[in-house]
Amino acid sequence: MKTIDPCTLVIFGVGGDLARRKLLPGLFHLEMVGRLPAEVKILGCGRKNWSQEEWIAEVRSMIKTKCATEPDAVAFERFSTRLYYHVSPANDADATLRLQKTLEETPELPRNIVFYMSVRPGEFQAIIDRLGELGLLKETNGWRRVVIEKPFGYDLLSAQTLQRSLYKHLNEPQIFRIDHYLGKGTVQNIMVFRFANLLLEPLWNHHYIDHVQITHSETLGIGSRAGYFEGSGALRDMMQSHLLQLMALVAMEPPVTLTAEHLRDEKVKVLKAIRPITQNAVHAHAFRGQYSSGTMNGQSVLGYLDESGVAPDSVTETYAALKLFVDNWRWSGVPFYLRTGKRMAEGSSAICIRFKTPPQDLLRHTRRDPARPNWIMLGIQPNDCMKMEMQVKVPGLDLSTRTMSLDATYRKGHDVDYDAYEGLLLDVMQGDQSLFLRIDEVEWAWRVVDPVLKVWAMERDFINTYPAGSWGPRGTYRLFDRDDQFWRHSLDIEGGDLQAY
Ligand code: BG6
Repeated sequence: MKTIDPCTLVIFGVGGDLARRKLLPGLFHLEMVGRLPAEVKILGCGRKNWSQEEWIAEVRSMIKTKCATEPDAVAFERFSTRLYYHVSPANDADATLRLQKTLEETPELPRNIVFYMSVRPGEFQAIIDRLGELGLLKETNGWRRVVIEKPFGYDLLSAQTLQRSLYKHLNEPQIFRIDHYLGKGTVQNIMVFRFANLLLEPLWNHHYIDHVQITHSETLGIGSRAGYFEGSGALRDMMQSHLLQLMALVAMEPPVTLTAEHLRDEKVKVLKAIRPITQNAVHAHAFRGQYSSGTMNGQSVLGYLDESGVAPDSVTETYAALKLFVDNWRWSGVPFYLRTGKRMAEGSSAICIRFKTPPQDLLRHTRRDPARPNWIMLGIQPNDCMKMEMQVKVPGLDLSTRTMSLDATYRKGHDVDYDAYEGLLLDVMQGDQSLFLRIDEVEWAWRVVDPVLKVWAMERDFINTYPAGSWGPRGTYRLFDRDDQFWRHSLDIEGGDLQAY
């Protein structure tokens, strides 16, 4: 376990959704399990004019909402001694100057500082410029680190522009571009699974793997996030960051070590090797959809166009699917199918790897169904698990086969459950960038999706729809290379693994 220097965690946008749902509850959980050293202080910056008492009451209510119970009294008492608040109203030019004064003149606030940008992407640059102008990012008195939430830019060009403006004030080791998927336990387990188990390595290539599927589906709609989502869409929101990161971890070569640079070097190589989708190939490689009204858990829900804040003629995609190829020796010819959607039938994230069928089907005369291939599946959420499907003989006189699942669900009852943000917050305080994105990863990921975004931005008069509560638009099946490839919705054998819908 690395040590954490005494530090002040300054959170911009502390009244926003991310801070309420993830950051403050996550920090409190770290307090509960004793992972937050006493010298870590939290300074929230928000627009509301809260007194210290009101701020502490607000944090209590954030934790209560998240945990659905009152926070533990002793732990909260301890936690509240870390909490400081700074009012930063919109358009107040002096707010950062006052922040500087607070940071310099409050002896309880350690001089090492993390600035967490939990604000709208359009605000990153102005805040960092202001901090830079006031000298708050100089490391003359303690270290300075800045955490940037995704999306980093809007496309390749805007990401590069944002980056140039950051480099005016910051060096790369100070910049923590967060992708919270990399903080999820099962995502890190992809590396353990691949690199701590020798038996998989000989199979992990185009000789044995038919295709790879990566799915993130959500039952929720866009809720109150139309302001953000209308300008983003599912491709930017989920695919450019989270899903491409998962793909890179599945496809990368073993890194020399698990240090930040070695790990990120290997992920970048995968992103670079993804075959560019030319503009006229977009329809063969990408599919978008938007949810229409439907039924979820027996309740009718609105279609996207009826959500508050959405333009009546919006063609923003709430569902996106891509077919990608990695043009290198290991993966030549293996399609990677990625999909994500809101208001889908179930909320889950999983990586499903389908193997090829044996070169000779010796059992073809004794079996009624077509041969079933092996699958390896890594469930990320709601349950983290690993499963492998094999064929076995059905007991009895006939030589017929049955699929059985080897279930390596590895969570034990006493294992502590951490939210992705908790580990990542500790990593920032420890200065460990392994699970944060390097700028070249971000750029190469934009290069993958940019051509699709361009074509979709031009096609403004039509978008396929899918009923809320379904598994997405039907037309998405045209991405598959062969008839025997299909989206796998469930990790269970009985879950309709051979059904399309
Ligand atoms: C965020 C996206 O990055 O990830 C959201 O902006 C999405 O739209 C969320 O809902 C999904 O994260 P998780 O951890 O709930 O799977």
